[in-house]
Amino acid sequence: MNTPETATITIGDESYEFPLLVGSEGEVGIDIGQLRKLTGCITLDPGYGNTGSCTSAVTFVDGEKGILRHRGYPIEDLAANSSFIETAMLLIFGELPISSEREEFRTRLREQELLHEDLLHHFDGFPPNGQPMAILSAVVNSLSSYHPDLLDIQSDEEFRMAVAKIISKVRTIAAFSYRKSVGRPFMYPNPNLSYCSNFLHMMFSNPYTTYMPTPEAIRALSLFLIVHADHEQNCSCSTVRMVGSSQANLFASVSSGICALWGRLHGGANAAVIDMLDHLQAGDLSIKQYLELVKQKKMRLMGFGHRVYKNFDPRARILKSAAHNLIQNMDTQDDELIRIAQELEDAALNDDYFTSRKLYPNVDFYSGLILRALGIPVNMFPVMFAIGRMPGWIAHWYEEFCDPQLKIHRPRQVYIGKTTRQYIPIELR
Ligand code: CMC
Repeated sequence: MNTPETATITIGDESYEFPLLVGSEGEVGIDIGQLRKLTGCITLDPGYGNTGSCTSAVTFVDGEKGILRHRGYPIEDLAANSSFIETAMLLIFGELPISSEREEFRTRLREQELLHEDLLHHFDGFPPNGQPMAILSAVVNSLSSYHPDLLDIQSDEEFRMAVAKIISKVRTIAAFSYRKSVGRPFMYPNPNLSYCSNFLHMMFSNPYTTYMPTPEAIRALSLFLIVHADHEQNCSCSTVRMVGSSQANLFASVSSGICALWGRLHGGANAAVIDMLDHLQAGDLSIKQYLELVKQKKMRLMGFGHRVYKNFDPRARILKSAAHNLIQNMDTQDDELIRIAQELEDAALNDDYFTSRKLYPNVDFYSGLILRALGIPVNMFPVMFAIGRMPGWIAHWYEEFCDPQLKIHRPRQVYIGKTTRQYIPIELR
């Protein structure tokens, strides 16, 4: 059936026509831009499950079919063939780079990997054991004070410079926030290392002892970052676009994305998965007992379910096999944890409660196991997600920045509070 060009909304005796917008993958949206003007009504959609906040050409997700594509490229192909930096360039600049472009960008990243020495004092303002996520968002926001020339971007060159600073420095800030939280000296970045190796070096090397990650560890980290690179209009991305819509600068906007990512229902879920698996390993509850509590809605099965994916999450498939590859050859207790994860997944997927609600493992179900096997502590998990998601946030911020039709985001509400009341002086209340 051909998609009609308009949709009709009838309120009382009046009918109104609204244009339909068809996306390049066939998604249909009702353009209700004139709704309030014509009808006096607004739409109500808590959680925005039915609301398109923008048009976008960055990432396509089909939750029913388990499809995720960046700029048209399937995530499976990017995971198999691309690096995190190349994927980041694809998202941000719109195309896979040719060799010279990639080399030029890598050089910029190397040049930008150090932090201004004064910025290092900011880390001292945080308490011992300070949350790395709090440090990350604060220090990324502080970058705006160190680069005032990039607050009001006027050219492609300025944008490329701001991108290189953020993508490179976020990794340094993340590693330093960890070093600060465990009271170890900062390890300066080594320009001879790749993006992922350099991060692991800053995390785990010590003065006079260089950390040597295995190729499997570097590959697993790279895959982790690639599958987190973007996921269209999720909570943190929408936050970045919301903040950016006020014409806030790029550093401040992505810093707000870090804050939005922090919660247990978004970037905090991978840590919650490990917490859940640890409890199961400790024998506090059997898998059956745990799932019973979930079904009684006393708990959630962390790492399961997704607002968009209702069949499978393609990122979870990639990370599941990466977790098995990484952990298989390691002498680690995580063997046991991955076995419990598999049992839990099998039990849930054979249970009508989960299948009838279309609840499947999401990206976080296996990502925590990878991070743990890499030696990354649980309070750094959302920070790792933030490093990975940075290209997506930047791509969306820039897409909006370049939109000549951009309006500040300002949703409305249906007010349900008290109507006008007379003010009562305090002595009479
Ligand atoms: N465990 C148990 N029940 C669940 C779960 C879960 N993880 N997720 C959803 N449900 C149930 C929910 O109780 C509801 O049941 P009923 O119809 O009986 O009321 C039904 O499934 C629909 O759930 P919902 O809460 O309306 O779904 P949502 O789209 O609002 O929530 C979600 C999506 C991801 C917040 C949710 O599935 C969840 O809390 N999952 C666990 C946390 C998690 O793993 N988060 C990471 C998400 S993936 C990373 C990312 O992209 O941010």
